[in-house]
Amino acid sequence: MTARISTFEQYQEEYKKSIEDPEGFWAGIAENFTWKKKWDKVLEWNFKEPNIKWFLNAKLNITENCIDRHLAHKGHQPAIVWEPNDPSEKSITLTYNQLHEQVCTFSNVLKKQGVKKGDRVCIYMPMVPEAAVAMLACARIGAVHSVVFAGFSTQSLSDRINDCNCEVVITSDGLFRGAKTVELKKIVDEALAVCPCVRNVIVLKRTGTPVEMKEGRDIYWTEEMQNSSGDCSSEEMDSEDMLYILYTSGSTGKPKGVVHTTAGYMVYTWYSFLNVFQYNDGDVYWCTADIGWVTGHSYTVYAPLLAGATIVMFEGIPVYPDAGRFWSVIEKHEVNIFYTAPTAIRSLMASGLDFVKPYDLGSLRVLGSVGEPINEEAWIWYNENIGKNQCPIVDTWWQTETGGILISPLAGITETKPSYAMLPLPGVQPVLLDSTGHELTGNAVEGNLCIKFPWPSMIRTTYGDHERCRQTYFDTYPNMYFTGDGCRRDADGDYRIIGRVDDVLKVSGHRLGTADIEDAINHCPEVVESAVVGYPHPVKGQGIYAFVTCDKAEHEYAALKQDILHNVTNLIGPIAKPDKIQFVRGLPKTRSGKIMRRILRKIAEGDTSNLGDTTTLIDPTVVEEIKNGVAS
Ligand code: WTA
Repeated sequence: MTARISTFEQYQEEYKKSIEDPEGFWAGIAENFTWKKKWDKVLEWNFKEPNIKWFLNAKLNITENCIDRHLAHKGHQPAIVWEPNDPSEKSITLTYNQLHEQVCTFSNVLKKQGVKKGDRVCIYMPMVPEAAVAMLACARIGAVHSVVFAGFSTQSLSDRINDCNCEVVITSDGLFRGAKTVELKKIVDEALAVCPCVRNVIVLKRTGTPVEMKEGRDIYWTEEMQNSSGDCSSEEMDSEDMLYILYTSGSTGKPKGVVHTTAGYMVYTWYSFLNVFQYNDGDVYWCTADIGWVTGHSYTVYAPLLAGATIVMFEGIPVYPDAGRFWSVIEKHEVNIFYTAPTAIRSLMASGLDFVKPYDLGSLRVLGSVGEPINEEAWIWYNENIGKNQCPIVDTWWQTETGGILISPLAGITETKPSYAMLPLPGVQPVLLDSTGHELTGNAVEGNLCIKFPWPSMIRTTYGDHERCRQTYFDTYPNMYFTGDGCRRDADGDYRIIGRVDDVLKVSGHRLGTADIEDAINHCPEVVESAVVGYPHPVKGQGIYAFVTCDKAEHEYAALKQDILHNVTNLIGPIAKPDKIQFVRGLPKTRSGKIMRRILRKIAEGDTSNLGDTTTLIDPTVVEEIKNGVAS
């Protein structure tokens, strides 16, 4: 069977089939892969525990499907075309044959370090081909990778390493990001001072920055590769064996390790990639997401390789050396499918068309958007100036927990509307619920977005704490996966994601928990208490607004502000730095001591006309003071 949908009628038929007979539907899609052994049963599930299993007892290795099976007919086709941060440096191409060789060789490097099936390996690397090689090598030998975004600080890194007991860390001497150099190995060294579980560190040379190599622990990537063989058969994995852990922020507590397993993730990410982007054999595909985020896992690495695509992998940032960089890379590598985040579009839009005009964007066929709501203005600019009104835009809604795109137009097939994710993919059953858990049926309704039936790439657990997974996603509404997003279904039945209904922020597309930021702020000894909320930001989507109480006099605020910024950078990373800090005498609290964030959000938005009922507050006068105060 072919898995590619090519008309809207066909989409409707496939959708119907996927709802009426999910098991038959997904079994049919799964036939497209190489299995070491097929499944006994397609699905077993309940959302109560939760217990979700797809393709039970099947055996496979995802890298055979990402690489080996393409070798016969695509061995010489580029798999990864790498574009460096500095445009004067040469780009590097790895064909499928070369990727195979590198992955097998690095698999042997890992084995030599004693890494076995089920062991956890932390990857803290720049956007270089070796990062993808490292992920795939883990998957080939059955190790579980935990990629940590290389913009996170020492503390975040050590927390993540310790949470899942990584035994090996793969990193580089440093990384280039625009005009900046970051000394990654140094951050790893600091982090490992509190990570007794780590046995080895494998260091790739990227920047040439001198590093300290700890005897018996640290080894160089290149030397080890030179001493290892390029033959490595792939480990037999069960469908439900862990593929990776990826940490993500929620409303409360420390970031949690979202667990994805092997078969369902493979089947769903491939199917969604093929259909959403309408991928054609031979297309050059570029997803700008860093491998530190879920988009970088599913749609920079796994899905396009599963489809046998040529991937562009970009080390740099959209505005270096200038705001024309994206468009110059598209021209240079003749990109057909381009997938990026609204925040990048908004920042390039603000730089003006002079940065777009010099480049020939004629190779583009499909444009994608991901990670946060795209506002109409940015959508229209993207459509007119990048797509030249010729390229469908797919506004793809999904989450770290969903593993793949759940709601999105299919390029050129589904009608599009600015800032609408439009319709669920086959196999996805969204529902909208009101706050009492009542399902809102029919059209022209708005509520909390839930999914009522499992799809193959969904979260299985949160690492080391299954109860937390149940409470976070399956407890709010019985028998539903709760997304944390608000959503409207309009009069035509099309979906528009409104944004988070909890305390999770999307700042420049990065997912951050307000509780995490507050913890970092409260680390300053002079801070008594803090409350962080998001507010609309023209480029970042959401900005970070911190209300802080402290025992300092007003003339000391400027110094304390610097301390706060410093602490947040050290404990989380520069992406979590508040845009605005307002020192206040008190926070609006209810008699039970709960901070009324609703009021703070309104004030941060600059909308103080109707703050709602404030009579339940212990001290309503603080609201007046906050309203009249200023942030800096
Ligand atoms: C938001 C990113 C509107 C949403 C893949 C979700 C979006 C959160 C869209 C997950 C979109 C993602 N339109 N909002 N197209 N895509 N979001 O885990 O709030 O980093 O819950 O995964 O991003 O963020 P995460």
